[in-house]
Amino acid sequence: MKCVLSSIKNDSRNCFFCFIIFLIGDKVICKSLKPYPKVEKLCPNEEYAKLLLEDYAGCTSEDTAIHLYLYQSLILREQNEELSKVLEEISKVEMYHLKLLGETIGALGVKPIFGSPRDEWFIPWNASCVEYTIDLNEMLLADIAREEGAIKKYREHIEAIDDEFIKALLERIIEDELVHLNIFYYFLQNLVVKSISCDR
Ligand SMILES: [Fe+2]
Repeated sequence: MKCVLSSIKNDSRNCFFCFIIFLIGDKVICKSLKPYPKVEKLCPNEEYAKLLLEDYAGCTSEDTAIHLYLYQSLILREQNEELSKVLEEISKVEMYHLKLLGETIGALGVKPIFGSPRDEWFIPWNASCVEYTIDLNEMLLADIAREEGAIKKYREHIEAIDDEFIKALLERIIEDELVHLNIFYYFLQNLVVKSISCDR
């Protein structure tokens, strides 16, 4: 296994983001190598299940991530085969997160339907949550924003939920989201380097 360590300026935050990605051969590793906690028997808890439903199938959710990355993978198939394959792999990792969250929501006594709770209602997940740009730069910026948003939300839910298993699960999912964030910064930096060399 080898790694690439670099940094890129994040204009929206006016700071540098240092990133590291891992490769086996030429294949980018799209998830942390740490094991996932096994879903446990839990006491029914609707409040916790509702928080997890937002992560599962709200607008900033695993469900949205699966669709977003698969859409981008299909769009980029001709234009950027390497990133297209990586996005497909990341989409599969997000689907595994969806499964783990769905199992946990079920273990908390709530049906893992594809929607997020609002008061006494559920808003069904819908396709307008996906950013449909075909511009590569905009895609990567949308992906970075999505991962940052997901990590922030997971951290809020870790604070709000008093259950060691659920906290460990969300922490473990964050590890993967950080891997994805680093990958998107890596591809964004490659794009910036290419555009600078083309301008010369
Ligand atoms: Fe995820």
